[in-house]
Amino acid sequence: MLRFDILTLFPEMIEGVVNSSILKRAREKGLLEINIIDFRLFSTNKHNTVDDYAYGGGAGMLISVEPLHKALVSIPGYEQATKILTTPSGKVFNQQMAIDLSKNEHIIIMCGHYEGIDNRILNYVDEEISIGDYVLTGGEIPALTIMDAVARLVKGVISDDSTVQESFMSGLLEYPQYTRPQVYDGHSVPEILLSGHHANIEKWKHKEALKKTYKMRPDLLDKVALTAEDYAYLKELEKNEN
Ligand code: ADE
Repeated sequence: MLRFDILTLFPEMIEGVVNSSILKRAREKGLLEINIIDFRLFSTNKHNTVDDYAYGGGAGMLISVEPLHKALVSIPGYEQATKILTTPSGKVFNQQMAIDLSKNEHIIIMCGHYEGIDNRILNYVDEEISIGDYVLTGGEIPALTIMDAVARLVKGVISDDSTVQESFMSGLLEYPQYTRPQVYDGHSVPEILLSGHHANIEKWKHKEALKKTYKMRPDLLDKVALTAEDYAYLKELEKNEN
């Protein structure tokens, strides 16, 4: 059982996702617990505001540290939890980080919004995570991204073989896949997949994964163990380009 607490000013952005599809089923099965906490409820002023002008000037409003911190310490067991802040200034999220996080029992994700958060929130955060080099309007989509990537690695959430062959687990991108019909709009399924020859099919899948990775993410090839045969195939691909 993995428990998530999401601290946000926009609970409705989170609710739709965690009440759909695989996350919904995992919650119903008791594999995941997801709590959504609106930290506006922890505002201490009479207008319920949670943001303020930045010291030293600058554009826009910042989220104050107090309501977010008060909401955090209201969570039972928060001291032992892994506390994440979503921010474009964080470490860029990847599959290995998802694998490491999936070993936790309790993860708290704090979502920023507007121009940012009073930097003193970092006194209460274990990890600052960005989901990529672009800026979103808030941390809710990043929180959902992290939660979804982690949740599907929890045993029982999806079938075990779904996670082994897929992109990033092997270090290569996934080979292309096909389902019926055999011909669509003149486009055929590769002949080899209909051959029934399992060894050849496995070889083809591996080559296609190499080809896809070479085309889309050549940077990943530096991080995987390649055989002499793999290198020969990559050389061939390179030659065909020129
Ligand atoms: N908040 C705004 N943009 C973000 C990003 N790319 N990653 C994490 N949090 C964010």
